Amino acid sequence: MLAVRPFAIADTQAVIALWEECGLTRPWNSPQRDILRKLTTQADLFLVGEWDGELVAASMASYDGHRGWIYYFAVALRLQRQGVGREFYQHIEDRLLALGCPKINLQVRSDNHAVQAFYRSLGFGVDAALSMGKRLIADD
Ligand SMILES: CC(C)(COP(=O)(O)OP(=O)(O)OC[C@H]1O[C@@H](n2cnc3c(N)ncnc32)[C@H](O)[C@@H]1OP(=O)(O)O)[C@@H](O)C(=O)NCCC(=O)NCCS
Repeated sequence: MLAVRPFAIADTQAVIALWEECGLTRPWNSPQRDILRKLTTQADLFLVGEWDGELVAASMASYDGHRGWIYYFAVALRLQRQGVGREFYQHIEDRLLALGCPKINLQVRSDNHAVQAFYRSLGFGVDAALSMGKRLIADD
């Protein structure tokens, strides 16, 4: 049984360890800073999932009044392919829908075929859009 709740500051190390285990951290993104920033805006959409009291899933979500966004979505390696990701995702979708969010966007690396298969299984399709970004604050 997956217990889903908002992130608490005491989860910080466990969440970062999970993201590292799942290969989601990047040298140019400080996960500590990303967590502190997220706690300043829609912190209730930063969710974690516990299995037998152990933190096994995490993701940051948001709704900007037009689109919902999902970042840093991860499930512990030992529990992958057992339906945990699907269950955890549904909690996020339910919360975004309750806010009136009409569409969820997310970014997946183009060579990450396994994750694309995961999101396709949840009903996501590929948008005809190029993802662009501009860094405003360097983390290093
Ligand atoms: C993506 C991720 C969250 C999926 O979590 P999960 O708990 O393994 O997913 P589920 O077991 O709920 O899978 C649901 C469905 O997604 C699809 N799927 C999931 N992982 C897949 C894979 N590696 N290859 C192909 N299809 C996959 C399947 O259709 C699966 O259903 P099935 O097992 O009945 O065939 C997990 O693999 C993960 O944490 N990956 C590393 C982190 C990452 O890259 N996150 C995405 C950032 S954008």
